[in-house]
Amino acid sequence: MDRSIALQKSDFSDKNFLEKQDYYLNLISELMDIRKRGEKPLAFIHTYGCQQNVADSEKIKGMLYKAGFDFTDKPDDADFILFNTCAVREHAEDRVFGNVGALKNLKRKHPQTLIALCGCMMEQKHIADRMYKSFPFVSLVFGTHSLQNFPELYYRTLFSGKRVYERDNDDKLIYEGIPVKRDGTFKSWLPIMYGCDNFCTYCIVPYVRGRERSRKKDDVINEARELINSGYKDITLLGQNVNSYGKGLEEKTTFAQLIGEIDQIEGDYWLRFMTSHPKDCSKELIDTIANGKHISKHLHLPFQSGSDRVLKQMNRHYDRKKYLEIINYAKERIPDVSLTSDIIVGFPGETYEDFKETLSLIKEVKFTSLFTFIYSPRVGTPAAEMADPISAEEKSKWFRELLAVQEEIAAKRCASMVGNNEKILVESVNEKNGKLQCRNSGNIIVECEGSSDLIGTFQTAKITEARNWILRGKIV
Ligand code: SAH
Ligand code: SF4
Ligand code: F3S
Repeated sequence: MDRSIALQKSDFSDKNFLEKQDYYLNLISELMDIRKRGEKPLAFIHTYGCQQNVADSEKIKGMLYKAGFDFTDKPDDADFILFNTCAVREHAEDRVFGNVGALKNLKRKHPQTLIALCGCMMEQKHIADRMYKSFPFVSLVFGTHSLQNFPELYYRTLFSGKRVYERDNDDKLIYEGIPVKRDGTFKSWLPIMYGCDNFCTYCIVPYVRGRERSRKKDDVINEARELINSGYKDITLLGQNVNSYGKGLEEKTTFAQLIGEIDQIEGDYWLRFMTSHPKDCSKELIDTIANGKHISKHLHLPFQSGSDRVLKQMNRHYDRKKYLEIINYAKERIPDVSLTSDIIVGFPGETYEDFKETLSLIKEVKFTSLFTFIYSPRVGTPAAEMADPISAEEKSKWFRELLAVQEEIAAKRCASMVGNNEKILVESVNEKNGKLQCRNSGNIIVECEGSSDLIGTFQTAKITEARNWILRGKIV
């Protein structure tokens, strides 16, 4: 791709553009006012997929809120229903198809409700076309690259009474200044970059999220400062590969420098980030975590497969040796570091011998927890064209074997923490057992007795018990 073009284009915060979208938000507000006669219109937003999608939904909510909307968790009460979709695996897509199909009756009952679809699935033309055709009660379809145009698109749909289908091809821009309505009051997502240029052969993300582009350092730092000053305690910096942050920016910078600078902001908070790609994970970053005042002692470093042969087929640009070098350096520099990872089981052509390499890697590293996935072919990706002779049953068997091994490792890791005093953030009340659900810096769940008044505060817990991968403790 032509970086210089991307740079020029992404290098703006378009005041006129935002003013134009504000103008549409006002028009929506007027139209809804006429419809609801003073009552607030309600929106139901359902988000599938990763935190990037959650962050996008928070922007859509920000825009709707500005237009006078409130939010509901009951689709039946909503004037506007939006599904923000994910395309990463077939299962994710199937759920969307099923759940959108189920809205047919709702639309019959409430013909005034406007139903819309957006997100990664809509950036795949064949899927967006199919959904647009199969679900005539869906009035608005737009992809990830059209998010900033949402006010205009929504207004066009409302005003014309016609269906609107928008897939913008410009995947190189960054729009600063879109309003955000955050779901949490003490945990927040902070996108530092968008898109992905890595093209791992199994992955659809680069096709649906466009080219990698970084936000300017000042924009990120200012947003972080705002969050910290307004009392956010747990801030996660987001990007598909945060380690390549800064590529293409005029000001030379690295991710380690960015997070190091945010860490200097005064306050009581944790700084997290995801996702790191092992090919770009530097010692400088690990040193920054080790020396950080606020950076959580947690490294999520997806390795996907322990077999060098499979890693090559996946186009991951590192091998097992390089991965273990980074991990060992992290263990050395960050005492008690919590390591987590993503793994794909059953990549096309993977043999049981390859799979055993993955098993041996998790035994060697001893991860706190793992996100494990069975390979799912994605139309348009190179891996979907590769021969895949292993049956689904066989892959499920390997998958279960992996879970069993990891369960034992996680249980031992948690048991070794009994007796520790851990700083925890109280997040919620577990509805099943009434206990406070908290997390430590390593992102491990800690359950404690206590009052719900403590939600959103840091506490210290003495760890009294380990239950598989969950800790129990007493607030001291
Ligand atoms: N950018 C992140 C991952 C984004 S997708 C990274 O590079 O680590 C999250 C995870 O979904 C991936 O790490 C991978 O383990 C899994 N995944 C992606 N595509 C998949 C596919 N086609 N089948 C199964 N799992 C997949
Ligand atoms: Fe997908 Fe690879 Fe990009 Fe992660 S780095 S989003 S796995 S292509
Ligand atoms: Fe899914 Fe899109 Fe995230 S495909 S995993 S929501 S970037």
